[in-house]
Amino acid sequence: MNTVTSPEALEPILFSPPSIGDAEAGEVMAVLQSGWLTTGPRVERFEREFAAYVGARYALAVNSCTAALHLSLLAAGIGPGDEVVTTPLTFCATANAIVHTGATPVFADVDPVTMNLTPASAAAAVTSRTRAVLPVHFAGRPVDVPGFRALAESRGLVVVDDAAHAVEASSGPHKVGAVSGDLTCFSFYATKNLTTAEGGMVTTNRRDWAERIRVMSLHGMSRDAWARYSVNGSQRYDVQMAGFKYNMSDLQAALGIHQLASIDDRRHRREAIWRRYDAGLAGLPLERPAPTRPYDRHARHLYTILVDEAASGWTRDGLAEALRARGVATAVHFTALHLHSFYAERFGLQRGMFPAAEFISDRTLSLPLSPAMTDGIVDRVIDAVRECMAGR
Ligand SMILES: Cc1ncc(COP(=O)(O)O)c(C=O)c1O
Repeated sequence: MNTVTSPEALEPILFSPPSIGDAEAGEVMAVLQSGWLTTGPRVERFEREFAAYVGARYALAVNSCTAALHLSLLAAGIGPGDEVVTTPLTFCATANAIVHTGATPVFADVDPVTMNLTPASAAAAVTSRTRAVLPVHFAGRPVDVPGFRALAESRGLVVVDDAAHAVEASSGPHKVGAVSGDLTCFSFYATKNLTTAEGGMVTTNRRDWAERIRVMSLHGMSRDAWARYSVNGSQRYDVQMAGFKYNMSDLQAALGIHQLASIDDRRHRREAIWRRYDAGLAGLPLERPAPTRPYDRHARHLYTILVDEAASGWTRDGLAEALRARGVATAVHFTALHLHSFYAERFGLQRGMFPAAEFISDRTLSLPLSPAMTDGIVDRVIDAVRECMAGR
């Protein structure tokens, strides 16, 4: 599709380069020149606009999704002796946050097609100690939100949903983060659909939890630095609890405000790349991502193929290496958590316990996906996969 002489045909293809515009760069420069770098007016604006975008009453900006998860669980009162049911097919931060509260993560298997935790498999893992369920909208595909709400209601559980991949996703008429969880956690990490380099957000409709998270995110202090040091601020504050240093800076929010304003443009580009992959990879002995349910909107964060050796002659790692040799970076989302030494040893877990998550974990490969990719770059990825599959 490309000529060998085009510069595009020679550049290594990054996995998920950010798509940053002039508006972001200008706002960052304005922060640098403003005399105020840390949590302040731009964080306030980003929170306000993010809450409106999602349709939640409160949005609390923090410095990562990991912090968002940790504070959400603490705000909901999760602690030692409690169990939280979650998916093994996720990044370690999801379950690490549960461990950091002193509670026990209890894994339940995923659906082999959607790759998401299901209400039925979560329900089967609920015990008298379960306080919360923590589904992950894997790769940007919303979980069965009505099903999780019904489970939470019938068993008296809190839903904390991990929407690290799912900022643009929706379920029926509601954006993820509006009513999908009692507390919903987003990531703005460098590879995410909306990036602030590092950053995160909690959305909730509960005022008491929002207030707790606000205080916990900055040392447990009753008043943040902007409220203390700005011209009209007051120096007085009270330490209400031993909190954390999880606040977002205005430098990060400067990126976030403009990333949010242009989110639909990037989403449309992700959709177009997704369709190009779907068409370009059709007919190959690989599994492509399943179609999205008609009433859901997929955030198109990760285009994950399944590489089965019996079907294609390639192991996942072998194909990743062959693509790397052709200048195409890929990633694995994820090695199931119970196969990592900490989770296996601490919680007595082993291979065989979550067959669907293991099947995916052994075969999954994420192809490059970023709105910064041109059609020519997408076609180079497709050509590289097709060449490998043809044995060249
Ligand atoms: C599913 C999931 N949850 C949580 C996180 C943690 O996000 P952060 O890096 O913002 O802490 C990630 C990060 O990639 C993730 O993929």
